[in-house]
Amino acid sequence: MIKKVLVVGAGQMGAGIAQVCAQAGLEVLLNDQKEEAVQKGLGSIDKLLSRSVEKGRITEEEKKATQNRLTTSTGLQDAGDCDLVIEAVVEKMEVKKTVFRELDGIVPQHAILATNTSSLAITEIAAVTKRPDQVIGMHFMNPVPVMKLVEIIRGLQTSDETFQAIEDLTQRLGKVPVSAKDFPGFVSNRILMPMINEAIFAVYEGVATVEDIDTSMKLGMNHPMGPLTLADFIGLDTCLYIMEVLHEGFADSKYRPCPLLKQYVQAGWLGKKSGRGFYNYDETTG
Ligand code: NAI
Repeated sequence: MIKKVLVVGAGQMGAGIAQVCAQAGLEVLLNDQKEEAVQKGLGSIDKLLSRSVEKGRITEEEKKATQNRLTTSTGLQDAGDCDLVIEAVVEKMEVKKTVFRELDGIVPQHAILATNTSSLAITEIAAVTKRPDQVIGMHFMNPVPVMKLVEIIRGLQTSDETFQAIEDLTQRLGKVPVSAKDFPGFVSNRILMPMINEAIFAVYEGVATVEDIDTSMKLGMNHPMGPLTLADFIGLDTCLYIMEVLHEGFADSKYRPCPLLKQYVQAGWLGKKSGRGFYNYDETTG
């Protein structure tokens, strides 16, 4: 039975994952390298819970009880009694391997190590641990408190018990699990990211304006959000990492990242989280 969860990485995904776990009654330890990131994560959880209280979805007492189940840390030394780790650090294989190697030596033997990776190979991450049968992909969607889907990805050595435990937990969190094999991008991003990349090529080639591309997909295809808005919400750095994983993993030029996407990331235009992407989110300049 999973009772205590360590969430590593308190960015937009980690904070959301910590929130839904705490709301489902789990004890949660939210970790990040930087104290300011932890505080930012807690701040965004507080904001979302307050909004839920205002809308009558939860009571003030439920908000407080959720927050009481949340503790934070900037080191992994407090992780000795967790049953599950959900890692949500930056989408870079070397960083994830370092985190998993370290966690493997700290968390209890029975603990499951899950990664929220959008595209990286679970089997490769699992291989740096001594418990590859207890390593699994648990891919939440953004924003986590709102989106129902969790893609569960088995690495080559993931055991049936591990899969079952994560499938059960997903349901406990009020989410809907789907199962995917360990292929680059799994299912959701293998389909989504080439569409976003193509939309960026359309900007790059001057086919249409950013607004008109988004409107085409919203009103023409009934998508709730245009691909460029969605890219800004996901983070353009994350979009680029995923395209690079698809490109390298399938060795197929159809997945080459658009040069404009690379340039935006080089400029630090990472989308909503940095204040600027295809749209401008900087409140000071409007
Ligand atoms: P983010 O950039 O908002 O947050 C990443 C956080 O990890 C930062 O706060 C950073 O300080 C922290 N971090 C980096 N190295 C660390 C370490 N060694 N130990 C502890 N904390 C560390 O990124 P975001 O968007 O939350 O993405 C995180 C993961 O979730 C990535 O693997 C991404 O592919 C995946 N993901 C992202 C989605 C999105 O829409 N942004 C959707 C689904 C999955």
